[in-house]
Amino acid sequence: MRLCMIGVGYVGLVSGVCFSDLGNDVICLDKDKEKINNLKKGIVPIYEPGLEELLKKNYKSGRLKFTTDLKYAVTNSNIIFICVGTPTKKRSNAADLSQVYNVAKEVRKYIKKFKIIITKSTVPVTTGDAIKSIISKKINKKLFSIASNPEFLREGEAIRDFNYPDRIVIGSTDKKTNKILKLLYSPLISKGAKYINTSRRGAELIKYASNAFLATKISFINEIANLCEKTEVNIEDISLGMGHDKRIGSRFLRAGPAYGGSCFPKDTRALIETSKKFDTDLSIVKSVVKSNKKRSKLLLSRISKILKNKIRNKKICFLGVTFKANTDDMRESSSLSMIPYLSKKGAKIKYYDPTGFKKDFEKIKNVSNSSDIKAACKDSDLIIIHTEWNDFKSLNFRNLVNNKKFIVYDMRNILSSEKMKKDNIKYFSIGR
Ligand SMILES: NC(=O)c1ccc[n+]([C@@H]2O[C@H](COP(=O)([O-])OP(=O)(O)OC[C@H]3O[C@@H](n4cnc5c(N)ncnc54)[C@H](O)[C@@H]3O)[C@@H](O)[C@H]2O)c1
Repeated sequence: MRLCMIGVGYVGLVSGVCFSDLGNDVICLDKDKEKINNLKKGIVPIYEPGLEELLKKNYKSGRLKFTTDLKYAVTNSNIIFICVGTPTKKRSNAADLSQVYNVAKEVRKYIKKFKIIITKSTVPVTTGDAIKSIISKKINKKLFSIASNPEFLREGEAIRDFNYPDRIVIGSTDKKTNKILKLLYSPLISKGAKYINTSRRGAELIKYASNAFLATKISFINEIANLCEKTEVNIEDISLGMGHDKRIGSRFLRAGPAYGGSCFPKDTRALIETSKKFDTDLSIVKSVVKSNKKRSKLLLSRISKILKNKIRNKKICFLGVTFKANTDDMRESSSLSMIPYLSKKGAKIKYYDPTGFKKDFEKIKNVSNSSDIKAACKDSDLIIIHTEWNDFKSLNFRNLVNNKKFIVYDMRNILSSEKMKKDNIKYFSIGR
């Protein structure tokens, strides 16, 4: 099939590359000229394991193309995926849909033959209706169909998630569209992916409901971890005991810092805004957003307590600053609130992240990046394991740190309390 991905960020690029690997002709379009020029040279703008190899292979085969020319992209494809960003609006919690609507207005200029236009971007329920009305102002309704195909891939596991999704959700009631999309996804369906066909609005809402539910699971276990800390219970026993109940499931039951990333924070906020628009009270989601906000503050007060309220001049090392492992994505990572706060309180902060330097901390006083773990940890009073990279799971801290009295605060519970005790290292973790 001939596809076009509009917006080649984490979602558009990964899905474009993977669709081409399934044998489709894919044109990846972005308005960012530098990004497109780099992609043509095989330079991948994001950290996503396995993506570079797959991209080069399919680019070489000629099935994958990169362009900034929308007319070329639309004219030469039958299926158009909208994969642009839907961040939170400025001065509001609603989703900013301007990128999506701009694409709709641009694309309609070049529709001459039947096109299926699909939102892969996460968009609030009824956005598809609005896109349809934008396009139908200039184009005959028979020449296009609007569907929703929300994306569930996780950064860091994106290629695996594309190839082996738990489910594929298609929101469309148009027979022709459904037939074509089922065929497009048939290589994944034949490998066992569940194919769910629903209304366009249904698909839009499935995405938000899924993200809000996962955010709820994380916030829930984080709050239970707080109770564990007070009652000397190990949160990992709770996660294990709960997770083995098939009705609950073990995933997203690991206590840690506040959830972050490019999806959960903005999507939970946007869902609350959508519910207001339709005069519905999503009180659970509201509590989750509140609980997550509290979480960052709570962990900061924990750090303060660990340092006996003496943060000034303390040397603090952050291991990992991204919101999760195997990605370079910093969007809404809890480190973005923790590091500036600690710097303001007079701490001297070094951070090491396997994906390197982060612009976000460039202008923050007393914060520097180290390109190797040893240099980052060397003189630390406190080492904070912020992100669960494998790189941090077997570190020998006694060999890394000169300061004999250093403390480790493991916000991901990736180290063994027993081992740390044996090594005579002062160690704190979450809910243990
Ligand atoms: N990142 C994730 O893990 C993830 C997972 C599932 C769903 N989503 C959703 O997918 C959507 C995209 O997310 P992302 O993380 O890939 O975003 P992103 O910010 O990484 O990428 C968006 C891209 O769109 C481009 N763009 C914006 N306007 C454009 C236009 N008019 N024409 C061409 N290109 C344009 C930008 O230059 C950018 O490269 C969002 O709605 C997000 O909520 C993201």
